[in-house]
Amino acid sequence: MSYHAEYTKSVENPEAFWAEKAADLPWFKQPQTILSKDENGIDRWFADGEMNTAYMALDHHVENGRGDQLAVIYDSPVSNTKRQLTYREMRDQVALFAGVLKAQGVEKGDRVVIYMPMVPEALIAMYAVARLGAIHSVVFGGFAPHELAVRIDDAEPKVVVTASCGLEVSKIIEYKPMLDEAIEQSAHKPEKCIILQRPQAKASLIAGRDLDWEEAIASAEPADCVPVKGTDPLYILYTSGTTGKPKGVVRDNGGHATALKYSMKAIYNIDAGDTFLAASDVGWVVGHSYIVYAPLLAGATTIVYEGKPVRTPDAGAFWRLCEEYKVKALFAAPTAFRAIKKEDPDAKEISKYDLSSLDIIFMAGERLDPPTYHWTIEKTGKPVIDHWWQTETGWAICGNLMGIEQKEPKPGSATLPVPGFNVQILDSEGNQMPAGEQGSIAIKLPLPPSCLPTIWGNHERFRAGYLSDFPGYYTSGDGGYKDEDGYVFIMGRTDDVINVAGHRLSTGEMEEIVADHPAVAECAVIGINDALKGQAPIGLVLLKDGIDVDEAVLEKELVAMVRKEIGPIACFNRAIVVQRLPKTRSGKILRKLLRQIADGQEYTVPSTIDDPASLSEIEDIMDNHGLVQHN
Ligand code: COA
Ligand code: AMP
Repeated sequence: MSYHAEYTKSVENPEAFWAEKAADLPWFKQPQTILSKDENGIDRWFADGEMNTAYMALDHHVENGRGDQLAVIYDSPVSNTKRQLTYREMRDQVALFAGVLKAQGVEKGDRVVIYMPMVPEALIAMYAVARLGAIHSVVFGGFAPHELAVRIDDAEPKVVVTASCGLEVSKIIEYKPMLDEAIEQSAHKPEKCIILQRPQAKASLIAGRDLDWEEAIASAEPADCVPVKGTDPLYILYTSGTTGKPKGVVRDNGGHATALKYSMKAIYNIDAGDTFLAASDVGWVVGHSYIVYAPLLAGATTIVYEGKPVRTPDAGAFWRLCEEYKVKALFAAPTAFRAIKKEDPDAKEISKYDLSSLDIIFMAGERLDPPTYHWTIEKTGKPVIDHWWQTETGWAICGNLMGIEQKEPKPGSATLPVPGFNVQILDSEGNQMPAGEQGSIAIKLPLPPSCLPTIWGNHERFRAGYLSDFPGYYTSGDGGYKDEDGYVFIMGRTDDVINVAGHRLSTGEMEEIVADHPAVAECAVIGINDALKGQAPIGLVLLKDGIDVDEAVLEKELVAMVRKEIGPIACFNRAIVVQRLPKTRSGKILRKLLRQIADGQEYTVPSTIDDPASLSEIEDIMDNHGLVQHN
C-alpha cells in the first residue's frame, strides 16, 4: 500500500482505519465502539473493548508458540552483566511480581511508582502493574528526591518499586536514600516499598515498610491478568511543562497497544522475531513505548542496555550491540550520535563490527542537526530516519514510514505526518499557513489512538494547555513549517520547554529554583545551543539591591540548588549576574530575544520593549562570559 492511500484513509475514515488496526491484537472482547466521547467531551478509542496489555505482549505470544523466543536481552557494560529472558520467562516473572504487588493490596486503578535503573526488573515491574490493571508511573533515575516527591504526591501510589542503586559511568548512584528522602518530603506516603538489591550497593531496609524484591518473589503466588477497558489508564508519565509542576500525561490501554503495534511495522519495519534496540531509558517516553511495550506487542525482541553510547567502554558500544544481537533497527537520540562522532570522528569503531543485520537507524527526541545526520549515513551506510514525537502522543507524529513506503528524505525534516495525525501549520489566529511559512504545529482532532486524553488529576490543565489555542485542534508546543511537498520541518518549542541531550526540561522550573536564592531578585533561564547536548540551560540573574556577592560563589550555589532539586540531568552549569533583563512594557522577560543573542542570531528589537539599551548591555555581559556564539 502507498503512503498516500494509507494516510488518506486514516484521516478520512479514522474509525474504519483504527478498527482494522485494533483487530490485529488479541482483545478479550473486541471493541465495537471505536471512537466515542468521554465525560469531558474528549475523543476516546475503543471504550468498550476488553483487554490486558501484559496479556497482549506476553501471554498471548507464549500461547501462540513464541514462548522460547527471546523477549528481553539485558546488556550492562556498567555492571558487567548480560542476561536473556524468553517470552515464557518474562511472562512467569511478571505473573510472580504481579502476585507480590497483589499481596500488598495493589488492585485495578491503583498507582505504583517505579524508580529504577535500566534492568529487566524495571520492565517486569511495569508489566506486573499492567497485569493487575493498575497504573504505573515510572520516574527517571536521574531525577532528584524533590522531583520524585512531587510525582509521589501527584500520583498517590500505594506502592513504590525501586532498586538499591543505578550505575553511571564509573559511579554508583544510590537510589534508596533518594527514595527515603522523597517520601520524607511528600505529603502522600506509600504503604510499601519494594527494593531490588543490587550487589554494587545494598540498601538498608526500613522494617514494616520496605520489602526485599527477591524475598517477596520467593513466596509469591503468580497473579492472573485482570481485564480492563480500552480506555482504562495504563500509565502516567510526568513530563516538563512551562511551570515548576510536571504534567502527568495519562496513557490508556487500548489506544496505546493499537498504535504501538501498528507503528512497529508501519514506521520501523519490524516483524515478530526481529530484534529492536531503543537506546533510551525506561524513565522516558521512548523507553516506555519502544523498549518496554511496542517490541513485545509485536512479538519482537527488545534490548535493555544499561550503558552510554560512549565511555562504556568506548564509542563502539552501539555497534557492538548491533553485531552481537543482530539488531535490525536502532533508535536513539541525535545527542548519542553526536557523542559517538565526537569521540570517533573517523568511525574506526564502526569498521570493527559487522552491521549487516542493521537495516535502519532512527533518531528522535530533539532536532537532528544535518551534520550529525550526514555523518551517520556516511559512516554507517544505513538510512537515517528522523521522526518527531512527544510524551503526549507516545509515538511518532511525523516520520518516514519504512514499513509502508519509503519517501525520499530531506535533511532537517521529519518527513510526512504519520497516518492518524492530521498535522496543520497555523498562524496565531488559527489560519493555515502557506507552504514554507512557519507557524504553530497543531493536530486536527480527533487525535489518533495512544495520545493523552487528560492530565492526571487536572483535566483543566489539559484543556487549557493543549486544546484552547485553536478550537478543534491539539497544540503541540512546537513551531515549524511544511514545504511544497508537505514535508514537515520542526523548528523548536514555542514555549519554555528545552531539550537537553534529548531530555525534556522546563526552564520555568529552573527559574523557580534559582529565584529562591536569597541574593536573587529576578532571573531568566534560557536554553542555548550546545554542540553535544543540543541545548544547555543558562541562568541570567539580577541581584537584590545592596547585595554584594562573589559571582563565582553564587554560580556554584545556584548550580548546586538546581542539581539538588531537579537532579544532575538538568545539566544546569552556568549562571551569570546581569544588571537588567530585557522586558516588554508589561513586564514580560523577552526570553526568545535572549536566546537569539546567545545563539548569535539576527534579531529585531520588538516595539514593545521597555528599555532598548538593556539589550546591548546584556549582550556584552553574555559575550564577556563566553555565552554568545559567534557564527
Ligand atoms: N541516574 C542517575 N543519574 C543519571 C542518570 C540516571 N539514569 N542518567 C544521567 N545521570 C547523570 C549523569 O551521571 C550526569 O551526572 P554528572 O553531572 O554528575 O556527571 C548527569 O546526569 C548528566 O548526564 P548525561 O546527560 O547522561 O551526560 P553525560 O555527560 O554523562 O553523557 C551523553 C553524555 C551524550 C553520552 C548522554 O547524555 C547520552 O547518552 N545522551 C543520550 C540520551 C538519550 O538517550 N536520551 C533519550 C531520550 S529519548
Ligand atoms: P519528549 O516529550 O521528551 O519526547 O519531548 C518532545 C519534544 O522534543 C518535542 O515537542 C520537540 O520539541 C522535541 N522533538 C522530539 N523529536 C524531535 C525531532 N525529530 N525533531 C525536532 N524536535 C524533536
